[in-house]
Amino acid sequence: MSTSNDGWGSRVGLILAMAGNAVGLGNFLRFPVKAVENGGGTFIIPYLVSFLVMGIPLLWVEWSMGRFGGKFGDHSTPFILDNITKKRIWKYFGVFGIFTNLGVMAYYTYIESWTLTYTLKSLKGDFSGKKIDEVGVMFDQYVDIGAASGINFPIWALVAFVITLCLNIYILSRGLNDGIEKVAKFAMPLLIIFGAFLAIKAVFLGSTGNCADCDSHIGLNFLWEPHYETLWDPKVWLEAAGQIFFTLSVGMGTIQCYSSYLKSKDDVALNAMSAGWMNGFVEIVLGASVVIPIAVGYMGLDWVKENAGFMMAFKTMPYLFDQWGPTMSVISGVAWFGLLFFAGITSSLAMGTPWMGFMKDEFKWSNNKSAWTLGLLLFFMALPTIFFFEKGVFDEYDYWTGTVSLVIFAFAEVILFAWVFGIDNAWEEITRGADMKVPGFYKYILKFVTPVFIGVILFTSLFKPKDWASPFKREGGWNWADDSIINQIFHLNNEVIWFSEHGATNMFYIDMSRVFLLAIFIGLCALVKIASNKRKKAKLANS
Ligand code: TRP
Ligand code: TRP
Repeated sequence: MSTSNDGWGSRVGLILAMAGNAVGLGNFLRFPVKAVENGGGTFIIPYLVSFLVMGIPLLWVEWSMGRFGGKFGDHSTPFILDNITKKRIWKYFGVFGIFTNLGVMAYYTYIESWTLTYTLKSLKGDFSGKKIDEVGVMFDQYVDIGAASGINFPIWALVAFVITLCLNIYILSRGLNDGIEKVAKFAMPLLIIFGAFLAIKAVFLGSTGNCADCDSHIGLNFLWEPHYETLWDPKVWLEAAGQIFFTLSVGMGTIQCYSSYLKSKDDVALNAMSAGWMNGFVEIVLGASVVIPIAVGYMGLDWVKENAGFMMAFKTMPYLFDQWGPTMSVISGVAWFGLLFFAGITSSLAMGTPWMGFMKDEFKWSNNKSAWTLGLLLFFMALPTIFFFEKGVFDEYDYWTGTVSLVIFAFAEVILFAWVFGIDNAWEEITRGADMKVPGFYKYILKFVTPVFIGVILFTSLFKPKDWASPFKREGGWNWADDSIINQIFHLNNEVIWFSEHGATNMFYIDMSRVFLLAIFIGLCALVKIASNKRKKAKLANS
């Protein structure tokens, strides 16, 4: 019901913005780490299969769902879903499409602010001549409250975060065409150039002679050589599917929001493919060719396998660049952290739009007002992740908003679109105005394979056994994996201890952050309820 004339300026701009939404820190930090943790090449096949049978159909569903909602003037998932069915409950499912974005944006903007700080540090040459451990300690001190020297208030981390947040909010307040699209057109090409530069450096690095297997080619081979024996390992499949969710930004409500600004005859099929494959290219080709190969080149494969973690980007990379001499280390550091920053900001901007779309549609707020309230809200949501970073609050946000809620929402929307709305209507939406021939068999994939696939993921995430080899074994009860949802909710594997002689425990902070996130979710549900009452009144008044 928005009255503004917001919209995309051009097709290229739209695709770059959508690709910018998808291409993010996940492509350069999360993907390589997940691949290493899951045996390198063993990851590739489950990853590609998940992309084909789940990622692509979800892209089509979300793009066409958004365009459909846009016809009615709705730009956020609660009322986009409401247009598809008249069952009232679906609106509240749509709350996930705002909630996920807020939760992720809170911690994601924080990571983004590190990349900004680290770009400046690289320029200043702060890492030159430092040992690898020293570079690691620098990072710990940057984010830690209680680091080395007694109480260390992470003041710079906070300042950098506020600057990054304000920058995001400012761009958002300029609107789609003048803000997001302009940034995407500039950031995406630059990011690809930086990525290509680093990937080429990695490929030509070869053996450094630091150790017997210190060779970047060993790293590349490790990531690329498919292994068939682990095809039956459910853990690898779960991780691969989870990565597809995160990297494509599906199950989040962001794509629906972006595409709700399309016109009803605009193509969605080909646009969705273009953005999706561009993300795939940046992830598999560029993302896989930077951190891991370079690290293997200097530290060897075993070290990398042991130390893989997304903090490597900050704790290890600056040291490795320093091996290339003073000039090259500045250039590479700026390319690397600049690339991460651009990848991050085009994603965090996208995460800001569902809230804004909702407030503008339902409460007639201006672009400015919805942007700056978003900033305020995010500031408070991010504070716990900044101050209690090392208590695990950051990971807690990632777990609920960046991992679990996507799967729940994706499952619901696929059922809604393919079954409640009906596959024929769905197909009609996907193919209308299409600039490509959508393969007919995708109708069946969308109707049967995708829902079952996501359903299985959801079920196994709920009840993930500790040991897949004997999942049904009882030893004084079920043995659920630590990161199974059931264990997380009920703390089955650990005793609940909130206070010890050292004060509040990590579990206390973690549980409090859950209560906080839950309160946000409930608050959003209340807003949807208010909005829907307003709509009913308006309807009555009109009739
Ligand atoms: N896809 C992004 C990445 O790879 C992350 C992302 C973009 C995201 N939009 C989102 C995550 C919305 C959650 C919600 O880094
Ligand atoms: N614990 C997270 C993971 O590895 C870390 C993480 C969350 C992350 N979001 C991210 C890493 C985005 C890189 C980019 O799954």
